[in-house]
Amino acid sequence: MKALHVLSLALAATISAPAMASSLPPLIPMPAKITPQPGTLTIANNAAITLPEGDKGARIAASLLIEKVAKDRGLTLSTGTKGVIHITRDASLPGDEAYRLEVSAKGVTLAAKGDAGLVYAAMTLAQLLSPDAHVGAPVRLSAMQIADAPRFKWRGVMLDTARHFLPTSAIYATIDQMAAHKLNTLHLHLTDDQGWRIEIKRYPDLTRIGAWRTPPSAGGAPGEKVGGFYTQDELKALVAYAAQRGITIVPEIDLPGHAQAAVAAYPEIGVLGARPDVSHDWGINPYLFNVNDHSVGFIKNVLDELMAIFPSQYIHLGGDEAIKDQWQRSPEVQAKMKALGITSENAMQSWLIDQLGTYLAQHGRRLIGWDEILEGGLPPSASVMSWRGDKGAVDAANQNHDVVLAPAPTLYMDSVQSRRADESAGRLFTVTLADLYNYDPFPKGLPADKAGHILGAEITAFSEYLTTPRAVQHVLFPRLDALSEVVWSAPAQHDWQGFLTRLQPQRLRYTREGINDADSAFAVDFALQGPRSQLLTRKEGTVAIATQTGFGQIRYTTDGREPTARSPLYKQPVAVKLGQVLKAAAFDGTLPTAQSRSFDLSTTSLLRWNNPDLVACPKGALGHRVPLTSEAPDGSPVFNVNLFDDCIMAPAVPTDAPRKFTVDVARLARHYGLAYEATKQIWHYSTSPHGELVMRVGGCEGDIPGGGPKGQVIATFPLPDPATAPNRFQLTGTVPAGTGDQNVCMLFTAPISGAFYTVASLQLEPAS
Ligand code: ACM
Repeated sequence: MKALHVLSLALAATISAPAMASSLPPLIPMPAKITPQPGTLTIANNAAITLPEGDKGARIAASLLIEKVAKDRGLTLSTGTKGVIHITRDASLPGDEAYRLEVSAKGVTLAAKGDAGLVYAAMTLAQLLSPDAHVGAPVRLSAMQIADAPRFKWRGVMLDTARHFLPTSAIYATIDQMAAHKLNTLHLHLTDDQGWRIEIKRYPDLTRIGAWRTPPSAGGAPGEKVGGFYTQDELKALVAYAAQRGITIVPEIDLPGHAQAAVAAYPEIGVLGARPDVSHDWGINPYLFNVNDHSVGFIKNVLDELMAIFPSQYIHLGGDEAIKDQWQRSPEVQAKMKALGITSENAMQSWLIDQLGTYLAQHGRRLIGWDEILEGGLPPSASVMSWRGDKGAVDAANQNHDVVLAPAPTLYMDSVQSRRADESAGRLFTVTLADLYNYDPFPKGLPADKAGHILGAEITAFSEYLTTPRAVQHVLFPRLDALSEVVWSAPAQHDWQGFLTRLQPQRLRYTREGINDADSAFAVDFALQGPRSQLLTRKEGTVAIATQTGFGQIRYTTDGREPTARSPLYKQPVAVKLGQVLKAAAFDGTLPTAQSRSFDLSTTSLLRWNNPDLVACPKGALGHRVPLTSEAPDGSPVFNVNLFDDCIMAPAVPTDAPRKFTVDVARLARHYGLAYEATKQIWHYSTSPHGELVMRVGGCEGDIPGGGPKGQVIATFPLPDPATAPNRFQLTGTVPAGTGDQNVCMLFTAPISGAFYTVASLQLEPAS
């Protein structure tokens, strides 16, 4: 035991030493096999690539290599006859995605049977040729032989173009990164309650009406419509571009639920006849497709056009979160169920899925749907995408259906990747880079003889809270790197510390390529040791500094200067004085692994609780981090909220002296389709038309059923009329002197039919 312990320490020390960085090949995902050979080869500007004459796939691989090396290394390669890089075919390799890459003192050979394998070989070489920050410099490669092939068939990313429309440029950029990471399936979520994004020539209103929604209002006039759609020509161009990079685009038309935009365009395909607006409510909305001949015929006509655009084997038909109230209320649907001898609405959904699966099969395609399609009995033709954990995967595989794993929360990239104060919007369940890296697509409880039904896995970027392409990139990268290694590399190749080392050059590539990757796993975070009041009274204290991954060496300054690789090395919590600014960053050798962060230890800052410093009121939970408005541009502030209870608390506020306070209030639209969870919203007694902000020192009881100790009301502010007041405003008062540090409870009693509120900050003034 002891010997083992020493060994693991020694290993850890070797791996984190900077010298090791250069000896690990700068590759993500890690290839199946690398065999070092004697010798080296230097690739410099103007190195040439030779390829078999008339080989279109080889030409494409060469041009991708040229483009990528120019971007990532600043070296100009070209095709020519006397090349040092040779692209060739090798029919003996197993499958179209496998490849060989050999570096010897004489040259580099890239070989594959299929076009995809050539692309992957080119991407591997491009990574070998961009190992560090020395842009423009020749690269000396160690001789080696790489034999590589994927672990899983389905290596995917899902983009949600419905909640926030993504311009095609954002999809092209995602495809480029997928190819670079040997991911091969781009799942496009093209329709939902909030938007229909694909041009259907036979039904122009799907996009004329269904592609545009009016953003929700938190009071006052609604804003301009937002949205957009892709023409069929745009989608065909995307399909072709993806195909050249070994990527299949799998389109999703979500049905029978998530249908509100479609029903807004064509109410006659809906159930109860009414024409709704295109929804601006995230979550679960009640609108369903009808199951009558007209509606099913409509869907089949849509599928005809869809199949003409997307040659993918799989077509995704959704099936998720279709609450069945409309079908239950519809005499027509009930009569149809009776005629078919169907006794439950879930079985009715199965019937619809089977009809459409059969239709797709008649056209040589296969249906895949979210795991709810299991509920009424899985039609024989269907494959399953498991998102509600992995039970659906096990159930479907046990029934001999193929499965793709996309379980929430681990593969849901709208889960925040850290609890840093500067983290972007999302669901407040943290899915770290390590969580992704440790994910295993083979679900526990899957019998060994069913493992062949696991096609692979994909990460999703549902975009309710991701309002811009940059926001989507922030949540995808670098967690996509971890996914790529999970689905491409054999478990024997998985190595977390090595991955972190290899991720550093990859992050330089992101910078070169203009990708907004998150530094959340590498940025420092500060933790004041002891309560704020202690530092305020003693005027000195200690602060611990850490990063999420522990990668690199933390260096810091206390004089406000930017930390460098020569700044003091962090070894233990730093002694600080009131008024100082602590600044720190982790370094990999001489390079910072993330932007530095600072911790302002001034009295003013210590007397300020920003929204991320606030906690849930007792019995509550802050479940979401949301922007102020549904269409907030990049860089907008975000707020932790509890959608079910307008109550938030500042912890451990010093009450040794009376202090004036300012609360900065934010008012947000309440635009959530809560369906059966709506009853969980907590109503609070109010005395004025728009409710009040009630502030208590000492706890929230009396307002929160089962809450903490009863606090003393220190202020009650009637809230202004949302129709006329701005959505940010300040309220001031005084926290009276009391005993010790106290929780300050801030409860909004606004009607739950209207906007909801949160606190952007609580600022106390120094005691006078
Ligand atoms: C889903 O997240 N509703 C598939």
